[in-house]
Amino acid sequence: MRPLRLIPFVLLIATIAHAQEPRKGVVVAVSVPGAEVGAAILKRGGNAVDAAVATALAMAVTHPAAGNIGGGGFMVVHPPKGKPTVFDYRETAPAAATRTMFNKSDSPYSHKVVGVPGTVRGMALAHAKFGKLPWKSLVLPAVELAEKGYLLDDHHVKSLNGMLASTKAFAEFQRVFAKPNGSDWKPGDRQMQPDLAKTLRLIAEQGPDAFYTGVIADQLVAEMKAGGGLITKDDLAKFQAFEREPIHGTYRGYDVYGPPPPSSGGTCLVFMLNILENFDLKKHERYSPRTLHLMTEAMRLAYADRARHIGDPAFTTIPKHLTTKAYAYLLSREIKLDKATPSAEVADDIKLAPEGDSTTHFSVIDKDGLAVSNTYTLEHSFGSRIVVKGAGFLLNNEMMDFNWRPGITTKAGAIGTEPNTVAPGKKMLSSQTPTILAKDGKVFLVTGSPGGRTIINTVLNIVVNVVDYEMPIQQAVDSPRSHHQWFPDELKFEGAKLHLETVKTLQSMGHRVTSARQGDAHSIWINPKTGVAIGAADKRLSGKVAGE
Ligand code: DON
Repeated sequence: MRPLRLIPFVLLIATIAHAQEPRKGVVVAVSVPGAEVGAAILKRGGNAVDAAVATALAMAVTHPAAGNIGGGGFMVVHPPKGKPTVFDYRETAPAAATRTMFNKSDSPYSHKVVGVPGTVRGMALAHAKFGKLPWKSLVLPAVELAEKGYLLDDHHVKSLNGMLASTKAFAEFQRVFAKPNGSDWKPGDRQMQPDLAKTLRLIAEQGPDAFYTGVIADQLVAEMKAGGGLITKDDLAKFQAFEREPIHGTYRGYDVYGPPPPSSGGTCLVFMLNILENFDLKKHERYSPRTLHLMTEAMRLAYADRARHIGDPAFTTIPKHLTTKAYAYLLSREIKLDKATPSAEVADDIKLAPEGDSTTHFSVIDKDGLAVSNTYTLEHSFGSRIVVKGAGFLLNNEMMDFNWRPGITTKAGAIGTEPNTVAPGKKMLSSQTPTILAKDGKVFLVTGSPGGRTIINTVLNIVVNVVDYEMPIQQAVDSPRSHHQWFPDELKFEGAKLHLETVKTLQSMGHRVTSARQGDAHSIWINPKTGVAIGAADKRLSGKVAGE
């Protein structure tokens, strides 16, 4: 017995050694300069929303694969007192979009797949409601990073060089991102983006209208005209970010807040937690077949209902029962404890036809306990690869998130259900899940992740690690995660090569188990006893915990 007892002790020591020094206000982001900009704003007396806005804009410069002003996302805000809220700045389809505008073989990298960008409006909306420091002071750090440049780290060198090699046909991308002497970027090189600096300076000085009705709008529309895209000046002028009520659930005494539709994140997370609450997970080890099985069955059910019901709420009615405890209880009674349910069995009314790191999440909390959980994206890494000529910023390819082929839902994972078909002015369904857990009104966990449909399950894994298994935050973030999305009917498990016996048992229960890496979840845990915030940058990718 002795050596076995030693294992958790060794884990604990490793975790303490890795844990970051506690601070008052904390920003955790994938981009080192991005996190540092946020921390500097906190030091200057800004609050967590100020810091989040500054970090988001800085990362449009320093993390161009996903940080953006040409994309969109969701921000969950939990104030120290009062109601949590969500800023939905998801992109929308242009007015000229149609239900059948896409074919299966269409390129994901064309002007047609660009949604009307939301980030600048979203940041301005969050700032108008919560900001303490002037807007301009939050944009200027990004201007400076673009103007004077920043030093590339290993991760960004790999990501940039890789993308440059595969985007030779995108002249403006090459002009803006290639190293001036034409060689490969090396770690420690300084990258400057003068066009983007000009664009950001306009946003700093004129506010979001520079982007939606001013000079930048003209540049964006000229880019669309040149490339056969659909976005017009009217689409930009009419774009709206919304403040919405979060999806609210509870899990073993914690309040859970996530983004509502058009993201499926909050709904599916609460749906799965409600199911899991009917089982005593802790009775079995974290990587036991039983815990993984139950999580997988909850995932399968949630993703089937996601396809069946969820889309932009302005276009589709989403049933209320998806997040109720009663519905989850009924579903949980149907889960077999010893056998995987074939995904086709939960397809019911949905007729089945025969047949990548590009989002980023950051977490912020300030000394007063105001917390921000923000996920935003260009959809693919570097989005559409289209840089607006002369304006230096990348456009998203978010129209990919619509169901392109109405009626075609396949076992391979294509979804063709009605709630998320393309329509003019509609927001495409997202899986982004910036999440905040709280107890008695005090924030306990801030988390979220990139990874497309895996996002919701990454967050589920972290919540289970922290709440059920009481893991320290760094361990909760770094530990292997699992993912099942209904179709394809397979369980992806990061720990498949470590937990061979568990995998064998899961296979004997009927699960098809494969191994795949999931997204990086830069998170913050707040010690409920002391109020001290501990940041955890995910070991999967470069990242930084910065603080006051
Ligand atoms: O909003 C969504 O769900 C997707 N566009 C996110 C894409 C994504 O996370 C890709 N990255 N890793």
